Amino acid sequence: MLSSQISISQSKKISIPGDKSISHRSVLFSSLAEGKSEIHGFLEGEDPLNTMHCFAKMGVEFTPQGKGSYSVQSPGKKNLHSPGSELDFGNAGTGIRLSAGLICGLPQIEAVLTGDASLQKRPMARIIDPLRAMGADIKSVSGDGKAPLAIKGKQLQDYQFKSPIASAQIKSALVLAALSSEIAIDYEEDELSRDHTENMIRFLGGNIEQITPLRFRLKPPYKFEGGKFVIPGDISSASFYIVFGLCGKGEPTIIRNVGLNPSRIGILTVLRNMGGKIEIADPRQECGEDIGDLVVYPSRLKRTEIEAHLIPSIIDEIPILAIAGLFSEGGFSIRNAKELRAKESDRIVSMVTNLQRLGVEVTEYEDGYEFSEVSSIRSAKIETYMDHRIAMSFAILSKLTGIDLQLDETSWVDTSFPGFFEILKQF
Ligand code: S3P
Repeated sequence: MLSSQISISQSKKISIPGDKSISHRSVLFSSLAEGKSEIHGFLEGEDPLNTMHCFAKMGVEFTPQGKGSYSVQSPGKKNLHSPGSELDFGNAGTGIRLSAGLICGLPQIEAVLTGDASLQKRPMARIIDPLRAMGADIKSVSGDGKAPLAIKGKQLQDYQFKSPIASAQIKSALVLAALSSEIAIDYEEDELSRDHTENMIRFLGGNIEQITPLRFRLKPPYKFEGGKFVIPGDISSASFYIVFGLCGKGEPTIIRNVGLNPSRIGILTVLRNMGGKIEIADPRQECGEDIGDLVVYPSRLKRTEIEAHLIPSIIDEIPILAIAGLFSEGGFSIRNAKELRAKESDRIVSMVTNLQRLGVEVTEYEDGYEFSEVSSIRSAKIETYMDHRIAMSFAILSKLTGIDLQLDETSWVDTSFPGFFEILKQF
């Protein structure tokens, strides 16, 4: 296995930016509500900022109040208006899918939703089909099931859906359509995907009838007044420095104020199963979400079997887990993760291709990839595929090994983790 060239001589405390999923949702829920909201800890990365700009075009006022803080004034969902031009969500699947759901239920709005070249390759039929079954007028402009999406808002009908994919983006798109159109929804999934949308509804005083742990029902009337959203640090961003701290040598790394929602902490389970020592300090709650500080100790890692039920809760962390696998006795394997092919890049292809360039013998499967214990890697050019998490994963690897990996482009990192490279430079 690889060994780190980094020795952390003094315990370092770092802070990571706000949670991307909750930042998007804070924009959507403060736009649905009539009146004033406050947002603190907002991720000022391109993805949620794009969502904010899109809702500003439909009549919501977001006034900056210092770093990560905004006061929001919404005219209420019934008074949002059509944007004067296309809504551009950049790189963000969450932004476009959740906003599409919300807009579908507002009869006064007509809009075209689009994004960058990566976003325009991602599957949208997964939301188009169920939204149409709710009565929505939404179509893929080019007819290929991808963005741009043209929407004419409409009154929708009550809906019951069992999702074939455990996806919080599908779940949240349909729930937001129900909230904007004032209809009932009964939603079921076969594994729990992240539940920030449900948490936010409860936090705002809404009532969710939980039928089973994986099935819930929502019924109108929905009366959301503005709220004060305080957003914790993003565990998906923290995961890069968790792996860095585990694979480094010397003193522990402390990562402050990390969101620890149970549907997001699969990364801690998997890394602990690999032998990683990670402690949670000062556990607390904010806006219905669990939060804590993480203390990450340099640890000897070993290969582990990642169980299928954990996949939804680690879906964004798999690239950096594979990097941890390079430092693990026995190597690394990930299966049951076909959804990786529908992310900002096809994250099976993007990891397998780059690992092979480093000289790692990787076997690719339809639903994952695997490699045996790795003793060395070579310097190589890394193709980042317009994918922030691929760029950050290989930047961490380069820093840990001291091997020069030339990343073709790193600007994608700003979609989710502005300041990532500045933190890396401190080590
Ligand atoms: C997200 C859900 C996940 C995740 C994405 C953010 C969300 O996607 O990969 O980065 O905020 O709901 P899926 O639910 O489609 O797997």
